[in-house]
Amino acid sequence: MTGVVGTAGGRSRPGWLLDEVLSAGRENLDADHVRRYDTKEDAGAADEVRLLQDWGLTDGSVVVDLGAGTGQFALTVAPVCARVVAVDVSPVMLDALHAKLTTARVSNVEVVHAGFLTYEHRGRPADFVYSRYALHHLPDFWKAVALERARRTLRSGGVLRLSDVVYGFDPAEAGERIEAWCATADGEGGGGDDWSRLDLEQHVRDEHSTFTWLLEPMLRRAGFSIEDATYSPDGIFATYVARAT
Ligand SMILES: C[S@@+](CC[C@H](N)C(=O)[O-])C[C@H]1O[C@@H](n2cnc3c(N)ncnc32)[C@H](O)[C@@H]1O
Repeated sequence: MTGVVGTAGGRSRPGWLLDEVLSAGRENLDADHVRRYDTKEDAGAADEVRLLQDWGLTDGSVVVDLGAGTGQFALTVAPVCARVVAVDVSPVMLDALHAKLTTARVSNVEVVHAGFLTYEHRGRPADFVYSRYALHHLPDFWKAVALERARRTLRSGGVLRLSDVVYGFDPAEAGERIEAWCATADGEGGGGDDWSRLDLEQHVRDEHSTFTWLLEPMLRRAGFSIEDATYSPDGIFATYVARAT
C-alpha cells in the first residue's frame, strides 16, 4: 500500500513521512500565541550572532535557520551575513516573520515554508545551520533523520548551532527534575520569558525533548563533531556547536 499526501512546502510527500505541521506544537499554530511570542520569549539573538562570529561567521556566510519562528535570529543575523534562509512549518509564524520583513531594512532573508524533514537547500551549501527550540517537535527517529539532513545542508567544516530543551539526567531522576522545572514557572504565561506551568507541563507531556545522552550520539552519527556543549545547571537545556565533518 503506498500513499502520497500533502506537505508543508506544497510538494507531495510519502505517506510514511511525519506530518511536521501536525507535530509543530499547537501553540505555534495559534495566532494569539504567535502574536505574543516576542514578548514571551527572548531568543538572545544578538549574543547568538556574536557567538557565530566567533565561530567564523562573516559577511559572506550563508545561514539556514530551521524552525525560525518569528525570525528573531534571522533578522538579527541578516545584516552581518550574505544570505539567510528562514525555514518553518507554521504558516502563522511565517506570517509574523513576513510582516516584520516588510518593515525591516534587510533584503537577504528568504522565507521557506518547510520543515526539518522537507527543506531542500538550493545554492551554495550553508556555512551555518541554526536551530533553536525546534528540534524537540520531532520524535527521536525523526531527529536523527533531521540531523543528517542538516548535515547535508552544510558544507564540510560548516557549523551547526543547536539549542533545545534536552534532558541531562537519568530516567530515574525524571519525576523529580521535571517537577522542579515546572515549579519554576510563575503560572501566568503572559510576557517576558514568561512560560506558565501549563506550558511546561505540555512541553514535557506532548512534545519530544530527549536526553543529552541520546541526542549527542545522533549528532555524531549524522556527521558532526561536537565542538562545544553547554548544559543548564538544572539539566533541562543544552546548547551545542557542532562541526560538519
Ligand atoms: C519555540 S519556537 C522557536 C522559534 C525560534 N527558533 C526562537 O528561538 O525563537 C519553535 C518553532 O519551531 C517550529 N517547528 C516546529 N516543528 C518544526 C519542524 N518540523 N520543522 C521546522 N520548524 C518546526 C515551530 O513552528 C516554531 O516556529
